[in-house]
Amino acid sequence: MTYDFDTRVDRSDTNSAKWDKYKGRDVIPMWVADMDFASPAAIIDALQTRTAHGVFGYTTASEGLTQVVVNRLRDRYAWDVDANWLVWLPGVISGLNLACRCIGEDGDEVITATPAYYPFLQAPENSRRQLITVPMDLSAGCWRFDVDRFEQSISSRARVLLLCSPFNPLGRVLSSEELTEISRICVQRDIVICSDEIHSDLILDADKVHVPTASLSREVADRTITLIAPSKTFNLPGLSCAVAVIPNAQLRNRFKREAQGIVPHVNTLGYAAAHAAYSECADWLAELLDYLRGNRDYLEREIKSMAGLQMTHVEATYLAWIDTKATGLDDPCRFFEAAGVGLSDGTRFAGAGYVRLNFGCSRSMLQEAVERIKAALPSA
Ligand SMILES: Cc1ncc(COP(=O)(O)O)c(C=O)c1O
Repeated sequence: MTYDFDTRVDRSDTNSAKWDKYKGRDVIPMWVADMDFASPAAIIDALQTRTAHGVFGYTTASEGLTQVVVNRLRDRYAWDVDANWLVWLPGVISGLNLACRCIGEDGDEVITATPAYYPFLQAPENSRRQLITVPMDLSAGCWRFDVDRFEQSISSRARVLLLCSPFNPLGRVLSSEELTEISRICVQRDIVICSDEIHSDLILDADKVHVPTASLSREVADRTITLIAPSKTFNLPGLSCAVAVIPNAQLRNRFKREAQGIVPHVNTLGYAAAHAAYSECADWLAELLDYLRGNRDYLEREIKSMAGLQMTHVEATYLAWIDTKATGLDDPCRFFEAAGVGLSDGTRFAGAGYVRLNFGCSRSMLQEAVERIKAALPSA
């Protein structure tokens, strides 16, 4: 390995949301989707060069950065996009909320699959829309999008589907077949798809490929808002930089209009980091994926060996969705917190009985957390 993912970086006294939640307590934080790795040196260098300049005025995305994004989507995902389709944003969550607001009217319906990354559950209500949820289907140890239930859930007021692909918190890479079925229904029923693809670079299984929803056909592209960002892949969430890709000009204009005066500019350093991330860090990313794969394999083995816990295979992301129902614990999140491991509570994701574990950390830290979980379980 050329890059070091093993050394623990001390994040205390950096106002880290992840670490400060448990400030002064012996709890390993494994909740929010923020990795404990330092970003690649090329990004740090780019930020240092930019800060050395000393003037931090309003900044726009350079042509170079736009081209890097266009090339990357073509080369990595076989998706041809036009530079004009890009709308830069300070975050993907802003994009989810704008998507809810720019289509339809107050009281219209927005559909999403559960369990869901909780901003998906909040965005419709924030936007005066009704949230309609469709449970994902778990069969033969694999979570699948339930196309039939989705179709049945569509009323005359349904306007938008918020789709998470790859799927946080389930770690699924939605297949081309699943996406084709989902989008066929959306075309038929005139539903706009907001496809959050923030985790698309984090595919762990060699036999899985990320298919951008909008790349399926022109017809689908025409009704799709795709959200991407370098923030999960290169661990830059504090730099607030994301992109919406919206091929349909009318939809893009509505989206932009909704953002006016409310959604702030992308910050200068976010652009600098995104440029370096997308143009200079492919080797780092390949090694990161190897390391995460190792963490995932270790975690899956360990969890499967623990009485009362189960997890499905994580195909993508650094997030494991762990079923604790067989332990009989009333509040598993609080229980593991008391045992020294801070997880995300499944109830926030509309997934009671589950916890989400972020394994984007050094192997030794993950091992320490696993040992704490094992020791705390009633059967241990
Ligand atoms: C699916 C998904 N979308 C969006 C976000 C957050 O995006 P941002 O920080 O750019 O708003 C996350 C962060 O965990 C996520 O998992």
